[in-house]
Amino acid sequence: MTTTVPSPGRVEIPAPALPVAVRARGVRVYDEDGRAYIDGSSGPICVNIGHSVPEVLKVMREQAEEITFVHRSQFAHRAVEGLTSEILSITGSDFREVVYTNSGSEATETALRLAMLHHHRNGQRQRDVVLTQFPSYHGMTAGALGVSGHPARRAGLEPLHDRTASTLPVSSSDPERLLPDAGDWERAFAEIGPARVAAVMVEPVGGASSGAAELPDSVFRRVEELCREHGALLISDEVMTGFGRVGQWFGYRRANVVPDLIVTGKGLSAGYTPIGACVVGQRVLAGQSAADLAFGHTMSGNPLSAATALAVLQFTREHRLPERAEQLHQVARARLTALSSEFSFLGEPRGRGLLQALSVNREHAVAARRSGTPLPQLICTRARERGLILYPAGAHDLAQSVLIAPPLTIGCADLDLLFTKLESALRAVATELAEGEES
Ligand SMILES: Cc1ncc(COP(=O)(O)O)c(C=O)c1O
Repeated sequence: MTTTVPSPGRVEIPAPALPVAVRARGVRVYDEDGRAYIDGSSGPICVNIGHSVPEVLKVMREQAEEITFVHRSQFAHRAVEGLTSEILSITGSDFREVVYTNSGSEATETALRLAMLHHHRNGQRQRDVVLTQFPSYHGMTAGALGVSGHPARRAGLEPLHDRTASTLPVSSSDPERLLPDAGDWERAFAEIGPARVAAVMVEPVGGASSGAAELPDSVFRRVEELCREHGALLISDEVMTGFGRVGQWFGYRRANVVPDLIVTGKGLSAGYTPIGACVVGQRVLAGQSAADLAFGHTMSGNPLSAATALAVLQFTREHRLPERAEQLHQVARARLTALSSEFSFLGEPRGRGLLQALSVNREHAVAARRSGTPLPQLICTRARERGLILYPAGAHDLAQSVLIAPPLTIGCADLDLLFTKLESALRAVATELAEGEES
């Protein structure tokens, strides 16, 4: 079905043909025609605990009846205090404060703001560069796009953020390698001048930009060393990886590094309410004023969102979902490896925990892009026709892929069904590619 959004007095904007969702339970979303879809990507890698969990809905209902909103400058609220304690008990004593936002993008903005203020307070005003990876994302607001390694999302907006050197996504020096290695990071520090680097922001496992490319532990550690050596701050963007998705509470833990700021969103509330947070480490907290930390958005840290996120985190902890994601990693990886060796248009699988990607090999990715039908999109469309929702990824030819990231609560039978549907979708794509070659 194609829907059209009426726009009074202006042109009509055709919207893509999407099923109309009416209900969701666990790992399934239902449309108005009664079709069920396995949510194989947790929406945009967000619904970590599955849909409509009764314990969370109960808390939301009760909180809504008590109080939905007070402003943090006028009242404290127990749910907000409870959420802060819960987050800090997960991060441990290296972190001391949580600044709330309404999205991951705003949490990125907060991290950038606190990093810059930290250097200004310490008389280091020359630190005007934030290094990031190419490809990477970090968010859709102007500051976040300014440091993003996602060219398609930055396109046309360069005047907003390309006038200073603060935009420096670091690329791999090897065209066959997707992410920068330790040498690339060392060169970036040397070329820009280490005294100018305010911060490095990384995604421990990428999402829609790099297609679940993992930042290798050794590179993550070298980046941390470079930051310490040269007085820069380390920011871990855990919007997609945080709260269990990659088999640990946070992606940085695998590499044994300690960032100065953690950027979160998505899994913090698993999509039950809009909320993001920037978790502030000791080094950054020193010297920040209460006002710096209190500045935010009208809705930041509202009681309804805080109570909801707290219920989500308690559910995540009680059901040991980070451990579950780690256990299911191998199951998912074995199925993806089997599929990638069966279909010639697929490359190696990537990712950690239940953030995995089926990559498209470069030759097919380039050919399909040129023909106007990117293969990740085609695979997702064929999967949706079979009742499976997946997420296309790839801000670079080497990153073209489809993200497989079901809720961490998925049962073994549903995981099996997910892969059966995926295989059927891939067979349909293989047939279409073969027919295309013949004609
Ligand atoms: C790694 C990363 N950072 C930041 C963001 C932005 O978060 P939001 O969409 O909540 O603004 C995203 C969203 O996909 C993300 O994956």
